[in-house]
Amino acid sequence: MIKILITEFIDAQALQNINKEFEVIYKKDAWQNKDYLEKEIEQFDGVIVRNKTSLDKNILINASNLKFIGRLGVGLDNIDTEYCKNNDIIVQPATGMNADSVAEYVVNTSLTLLKKTIIINEKTQKGKWPRTSIVTKELKGKILGLIGFGDISKKVLKLANVFDATSIAYDPFISSKEMKAVNVNKVSFDEILELADIISIHVPLNNETKYLFDRNAFIKMEKKPIIINSSRGGIINEKDLIDAYINNYISGFALDVFENEPVNETLYRNISNDMNCILTPHIAGVTEESNVRVSNFIIDKTNKFFEN
Ligand SMILES: NC(=O)c1ccc[n+]([C@@H]2O[C@H](COP(=O)([O-])OP(=O)(O)OC[C@H]3O[C@@H](n4cnc5c(N)ncnc54)[C@H](O)[C@@H]3O)[C@@H](O)[C@H]2O)c1
Repeated sequence: MIKILITEFIDAQALQNINKEFEVIYKKDAWQNKDYLEKEIEQFDGVIVRNKTSLDKNILINASNLKFIGRLGVGLDNIDTEYCKNNDIIVQPATGMNADSVAEYVVNTSLTLLKKTIIINEKTQKGKWPRTSIVTKELKGKILGLIGFGDISKKVLKLANVFDATSIAYDPFISSKEMKAVNVNKVSFDEILELADIISIHVPLNNETKYLFDRNAFIKMEKKPIIINSSRGGIINEKDLIDAYINNYISGFALDVFENEPVNETLYRNISNDMNCILTPHIAGVTEESNVRVSNFIIDKTNKFFEN
């Protein structure tokens, strides 16, 4: 009998559709229990995870029966994909299934930061009237710099077009022809830093992207942009980001992802009410709707994999 372990939350309705002949162990907190994973993973043919379950070599080395990993999301930085490749373990992300949720998050945070809604709301609720003392901006006519031009960036682009923003993108793996076809200029990383009013990050976390945004990058920013990271923590150096804000290189930031999750005290202690920033707990891709889509997609892929 095929045995499947699910280590994080999944949509209940979608789970009903898993092949009834499989034995399914659903432990939505198993991601927290490294000992359990190390000891028990051996009995499973398939594992379904989100981003909290670390499937590193130390765990996978015990997974002698594992053939399939379903990822309820898209980033694969919690899985040793190299080990999986060398050991014939298929890793299946839910490609594109939460891209709309993340794209809406980017537009929502862009507007909120340009309109300085959080600061203005805080002051007005305290009886102040910052009608002219705080100047806000439009998204219309701004230059949006996309870091990475994959599924999520393409969705962000569509939404940004509605606001008449212009988009440029840095992605060495996508041709300028492909970008031109959707009216996007392919530019270098430094050109993004120089030209963009809004920078939104949509790349995987890997050796090339780790601390891509550090002091060296921030000091090259010419337009005091707002920065949105809904990709992965660690792509931005958080200390350098706060310094860049304090020293006026950037005019705001939204972080949905952090180098340490839950967010580390060393970061949130440096945040105050009058800063133009938004911190959210890794929820950009997790909406009611995307949870259903992601879960159905992975259950379907799991069924197909083992039925074949
Ligand atoms: N916050 C959330 O809830 C949430 C939800 C979904 C995805 N994500 C993150 O967003 C990231 C992007 O998702 P996606 O679906 O658009 O992925 P994708 O694979 O479709 O696109 C990623 C793009 O990044 C490009 N890229 C890779 N390395 C690069 C580099 N060094 N420099 C520039 N570009 C590079 C690739 O060519 C690709 O086009 C994921 O890796 C994931 O970590 C976060």
